[in-house]
Amino acid sequence: MAITEADVRGALTRVKFPGLSRDIVSFGFVRSVTVSDGNVAVEIVMTTASPTAGEVVEREARRVLSELPGVREVTLDSKVHAPQGAPAEQAPRDLLPGVRTKIAVASGKGGVGKSTVAANLALALRQTGSTVGLLDADIYGPSQQLMMGCTDKPMVSPEQKILPVDGHGVKVMSLGFLMDADTPVIWRGPMVMKALQQFIEDVDWGTLDYLIVDLPPGTGDAQLTVTQQVPLDGAIIVTTPQDVALIDARKGLAMFRKVNVPVLGVIENMSTFVCPHCGKSSEIFKHGGGRRTAEQLGVPFLGEIPIDPAIVVGGDAGTPIVVSHPESAAAAAFAAVAAEIAQQVTGH
Ligand SMILES: Nc1ncnc2c1ncn2[C@@H]1O[C@H](COP(=O)(O)OP(=O)(O)OP(=O)(O)O)[C@@H](O)[C@H]1O
Ligand SMILES: [Mg+2]
Repeated sequence: MAITEADVRGALTRVKFPGLSRDIVSFGFVRSVTVSDGNVAVEIVMTTASPTAGEVVEREARRVLSELPGVREVTLDSKVHAPQGAPAEQAPRDLLPGVRTKIAVASGKGGVGKSTVAANLALALRQTGSTVGLLDADIYGPSQQLMMGCTDKPMVSPEQKILPVDGHGVKVMSLGFLMDADTPVIWRGPMVMKALQQFIEDVDWGTLDYLIVDLPPGTGDAQLTVTQQVPLDGAIIVTTPQDVALIDARKGLAMFRKVNVPVLGVIENMSTFVCPHCGKSSEIFKHGGGRRTAEQLGVPFLGEIPIDPAIVVGGDAGTPIVVSHPESAAAAAFAAVAAEIAQQVTGH
């Protein structure tokens, strides 16, 4: 049987992006496929700071295509662009050398539970035995120091590095430790933005399996700048079940594509509500919008977090639900998301 475009795309899903378990097709790196008479031409466009990723992908793509029955000749046109702001000829300096995987938690709009997800995800990863850090990069309203129950201020090491503060076994660093709550928000943007990169470099994280970065809400310039300053490996978009959330999630995806940070998936927060009295499940904000959003954006759906008043109490008290109610449905949902992320990042 003659080989088709679908066969070619199918084969290319076996090519994983180096360091991640996601494939180049789902990342949208395969721009075009033409097949005629067993001659296959594929155009691949990647944006990555990695000096070797392009070569690895090209080699793998060539291998899987040449193994396809019926293929006569493979023509690969692959282009690698450096992320915006990084000069192509020079590999960017690794600002966080001891940190294996840096993942941002973002949302198109505020108040969807981004910080809640970041904190609980960090703790769920910690509970699986990984070493985890949590960086609150929300220049507008840093909240992780409160959410993670960090009452101490960070200390400075003899090497003049800032030491993160422990929060339930996770290393926490927040701009909130350094900012006065009374600093007018209008001053924070330009001032803090400038300081952020310096700040990131000056923290001694030690070695970490994961660093979770809580981004400021929205997808404007401020968020873009932060994503350019923290060398991210992947991003998670938090959304709520309403249909309108799709528009915001789409903006988030576009932002990460611009700086070529792979989107690991979408989480639906404030999904169903389970009544603590009768145990019946109600769909306050509808339900399933997150899954549809993920499908429409072509990224994985990572899971849904139920609405639970204990989440609010836990966040305010500095003991997130994963720690305060590890047996709850919400904690189980966070654990499932953590497992999915670990699977995507490490492949097992
Ligand atoms: N699944 C949930 N069930 C109940 N309450 C929740 C849930 N998720 C978040 N909340 C509550 O919603 C409020 C907003 O959450 P959070 O601060 O995490 O949002 P955010 O997206 O980080 O907001 P901001 O944009 O201001 O940074 C908090 O009071 C939090 O406790
Ligand atoms: Mg927040």
